[in-house]
Amino acid sequence: MKIISVIGARPQFIKAAAFSYNLRLNNLFEEVIIHTGQHYDENMSNIFFDQLQIPQPDYRLDSGGKSHAAMTAYQLQEIAKILKNERPDCVLLYGDTNSTLSGALAASKLSIPIVHVEAGLRSYNMNMPEEINRIITDRLSRILFCPSDDAKENLMREGYQNFDLDIYVVGDIMLDTIKLFFENLEIKKPFEEPYVVCTIHRQESTNQSDRLREIIQGLNEISKTVKIIFPIHPRTQKIISDQKILLSDNIIVIQPLSYIDFLSHVKHCELVITDSGGLQKESYFMNKNCLVIREETEWTELISNNNNKLCGFKTGKIIQNFNNRNNLNTDFGQPIYGDGNTANRIIKIMSDKFL
Ligand code: UD1
Repeated sequence: MKIISVIGARPQFIKAAAFSYNLRLNNLFEEVIIHTGQHYDENMSNIFFDQLQIPQPDYRLDSGGKSHAAMTAYQLQEIAKILKNERPDCVLLYGDTNSTLSGALAASKLSIPIVHVEAGLRSYNMNMPEEINRIITDRLSRILFCPSDDAKENLMREGYQNFDLDIYVVGDIMLDTIKLFFENLEIKKPFEEPYVVCTIHRQESTNQSDRLREIIQGLNEISKTVKIIFPIHPRTQKIISDQKILLSDNIIVIQPLSYIDFLSHVKHCELVITDSGGLQKESYFMNKNCLVIREETEWTELISNNNNKLCGFKTGKIIQNFNNRNNLNTDFGQPIYGDGNTANRIIKIMSDKFL
């Protein structure tokens, strides 16, 4: 039994780590890894393979820095060549990136069954490239692993019970990675004084005129109250510098951090401010409230539980929600996304299905 995993961006390295680790322990299938090269900087890619003990990719593509269309087309063509050669029994895909989409297209055109981890999520914002990637990948998949009941309900509303596929709610695999690679480490406080951790990288936050400026103005205002640590994605860095957007001195801009360094900062922070999907959940897993710099989110449970708060992109709204942060729910004990044993659950189901 041979699986091909297609990964290419930071959140996929984090998810694949837990799966590959558990797979190696029980040695049930052979795993071949394709790295699409969507993320390619040392601190956006290699450092995750080292820290999270992910096996070196068997194939590395070079798709970084291309437009969405060019990236998807190139990956589709290259992944298809590899699939034809390797003839896997299934293709394993994570999340919602362009690498997920091209893996789904390549495998489905060769009639290779697709397994989608993090299925059923919907923001219902069709302007997000990630939403398009999710919908197409779900529809092309044979086995859908949902992180929560809400994700499964989304699929039911779209009529997935009528299709020839299997849907399982298995929990969120990012919790597995925290438990395996972070939870037992001795972590020192990176700063003595209180601080907020902030990340902004999405196209919808950065590529619309003045949106990033509004967000940064909100952060500048917040930084008058508390220090902000801002590990910056290369895209955001470029736009801040091209548009000459000014950041206050109390916003500490640093390069993207490794997995362990990043979570160490989250562990001791007062609050998280982000547009990242993964970090909305990681905040919850690390007992932190999170202001979500978006109009909507696919991680709806955390909003209805009032652990996280949607703030939109406007300066005034961001500041207002920061000022109201003490009204957020600080009970992080509900097992909304499972128990951190998701990878093994997936492996068990796959072995029942394929072996
Ligand atoms: C992608 C995913 C998003 C995920 C995010 C995690 C899509 C559509 N989006 O967004 O779902 O949350 O990854 O970070 O797939 N760049 C570098 N160095 C790198 C990586 C990227 O300079 O190592 C540059 C790229 O050349 C590009 C920009 O950053 O100009 C954006 O990168 P891209 O891979 O297009 O998407 P992300 O914003 O990272």
